[in-house]
Amino acid sequence: MKTVVLGMCGSIACVRAFDLVRLLRKKGFNVQVLMSKGAEGIITKDSMEWASGNEVITKITGKVEHVKFFGKKGIGDLMLIAPATANTISKIAMAIDDTPITTFATIAIGSKKPVLICPAMHEPMYEHPIVQKNIELLEKEKRIRIIEPLVEEEKAKLASVEKIVLEVERALGKKKLEGKKALIGSGATYSKIDSMRIITNLSSGKMGKALEHEFLVNGAEVSLVEGTEHTKFYSQIIKKLYEGFDYFILPAAINDFEVRENRNKLSSGKKISLELTPTKKLLSEVRVKFPELKIIAFKAETNKTKKQLEKIGKDFLKKQKIEMVVVNDVSKNPAGSDESEMVIVSKGKTVFVNGAKEKIAEKIITKMF
Ligand SMILES: Cc1cc2nc3c(=O)[nH]c(=O)nc-3n(C[C@H](O)[C@H](O)[C@H](O)COP(=O)(O)O)c2cc1C
Repeated sequence: MKTVVLGMCGSIACVRAFDLVRLLRKKGFNVQVLMSKGAEGIITKDSMEWASGNEVITKITGKVEHVKFFGKKGIGDLMLIAPATANTISKIAMAIDDTPITTFATIAIGSKKPVLICPAMHEPMYEHPIVQKNIELLEKEKRIRIIEPLVEEEKAKLASVEKIVLEVERALGKKKLEGKKALIGSGATYSKIDSMRIITNLSSGKMGKALEHEFLVNGAEVSLVEGTEHTKFYSQIIKKLYEGFDYFILPAAINDFEVRENRNKLSSGKKISLELTPTKKLLSEVRVKFPELKIIAFKAETNKTKKQLEKIGKDFLKKQKIEMVVVNDVSKNPAGSDESEMVIVSKGKTVFVNGAKEKIAEKIITKMF
């Protein structure tokens, strides 16, 4: 289990520390909280002890806590400063350490441990030219990362808890895909019947989100194109691919049929028939236009045995000349489920997986790379 040392400074954003600690623990991290005097004036040490399950450190004693965690053989894996005040940021940039958080930061940086800093303050404090210079100075250090605040309502608000935790996972991840670019096409597309009505499908986009997360955690740069009008989705994907990607992953449920759009709203007074025409195949076009691109496709089937799914996957892989196909039986886990049962087919390898979509996304990366 990896240990994240969470340094909390005196900002009102300390009230978000409960959600932050809960998500870190949910992701399997041990959290050691460190609070400044300012932070103790905002929320209590007892509540953070309860949230983290560990005794909170508020001062450095004869136990040399900073060495225990971030000495060369320290047990801390990463230092996360959230919220980080203007005061603490500027002190760390100048290598001043006169509080537990700044002392932990000094030794962590010297021991080459990853340090993530999440500023939170009123906008004028954030815009102070020397605070900005200090942030730039810290950013120059390879192992220090500033997680940008959300600037709105005259405040530089602490980044979202989800974004912070993702950055922690990225910093401590295997970095298998560092320097690689992945494009993910996710969700459902739709085609217009008239100015008001559409035909679409029940894809939720959950698998796409799970894959986005997994590629990010493994260090890749990820772009996500989410389901929209069929023709727009198609052209957005092709346009984006010209920017240069290493991987293209397509868990999206793309409309297989187009319907001719009526300019005016159809009257519901009488029976009508719609003519469905098969759409162009995005995968085939992508394969031809981008021969070097590594492609992972998804295929939904109904009421098939594992053997049949495997055969469908193998045939599809060969026909489409792609690197991997993930076939699932939607009659067992309908669109929108959090779980799935899938067959991952790549060249020379077939793996059956089931469980949460997040776990399946993790397996896809393990099998693929
Ligand atoms: C209620 C309250 C909220 C504060 N919020 C912030 C803040 O969001 N950002 C900031 O930089 N300072 C904020 N301050 C000021 C800091 O607490 C003050 O600069 C303190 O010296 C920071 O010490 P520390 O960095 O050791 O926690 C706040 C102070 C109070 C009393």
